Amino acid sequence: MTGTSSTDDVRFGFGRNWRAYLRSIDETKLQAAEDELRHLVGGDLAGKSFLDIGSGSGIHSLAAHRLGAKSIVSFDYDADSVACTREMHARVGAPANWQVFQGSVLDPEFLSGLGVFDVVYSWGVLHHTGAMWRAVELAMDRCAGTGSLFVIGLYHKKAYLTPAIKRVKRAYSAGGPARRGALLGGYIAATLAYAAARGQLRQVVQNSPRRGMNAWHDLVDWVGGYPFEAATPAEVVAFVEPRGFQSVRSETFTSFAAVNTFVFSRLPPK
Ligand SMILES: C[S@@+](CC[C@H](N)C(=O)[O-])C[C@H]1O[C@@H](n2cnc3c(N)ncnc32)[C@H](O)[C@@H]1O
Repeated sequence: MTGTSSTDDVRFGFGRNWRAYLRSIDETKLQAAEDELRHLVGGDLAGKSFLDIGSGSGIHSLAAHRLGAKSIVSFDYDADSVACTREMHARVGAPANWQVFQGSVLDPEFLSGLGVFDVVYSWGVLHHTGAMWRAVELAMDRCAGTGSLFVIGLYHKKAYLTPAIKRVKRAYSAGGPARRGALLGGYIAATLAYAAARGQLRQVVQNSPRRGMNAWHDLVDWVGGYPFEAATPAEVVAFVEPRGFQSVRSETFTSFAAVNTFVFSRLPPK
């Protein structure tokens, strides 16, 4: 398949992690995913076409279906992620207005065959492609006319930590079970020690993930997720706005492990 980063073949098995997570999806998680999406797009999706780039487990495509999207296209690069999304599609009776494909956001030919959409959603994906800014550019091109929404989640960049995090993630994804276990254990221990030193242990332990996720699969995805890039909120806005969009809302954090979320709206052509 075309559309991967060419310099480094190491990739985290995102889809394998999603397969394990799929078993834990219940109505509470579905409701959380739906609530989060409704919040991001500012209401329901009645009459809207929705593109889910890097659909992963498929839970957010399913949320779009529950929010009444007129049509949904979901795709992912990873065959296991595609199988998960297909399973979610099947869970709701395989509706004909929801299509699931395998493909890469870095493949312009594949993308142009999909058409354009009222809402283009890509959360936690474009920084895992190996060519983040190219992926952002290609993804935003899928937005239909004026007022269509571009919703992206990108890892927060911390200049002094991001290179070290990248090395850990690469080591995890290139390693066998022993190395992966050691890195996961080390990360958990370091996080708890850091939180304890700041008097935030209870918050960290009780912190439950949002968006319908669960703590263990989120953790594995965070430690392993590779390729990996990150951006500051200012970099994201400075990249997207001059390309014909305006910021609608964003949710940004300061933690190195956070994903900042941005909602942009396409401006009328000049
Ligand atoms: C961290 S998961 C996020 C999944 C989902 N969007 C969510 O919010 O739960 C990242 C997903 O991006 C997919 N991905 C990575 N590179 C991709 C590419 N070039 N094109 C499409 N999907 C890609 C991975 O296979 C994985 O399923």
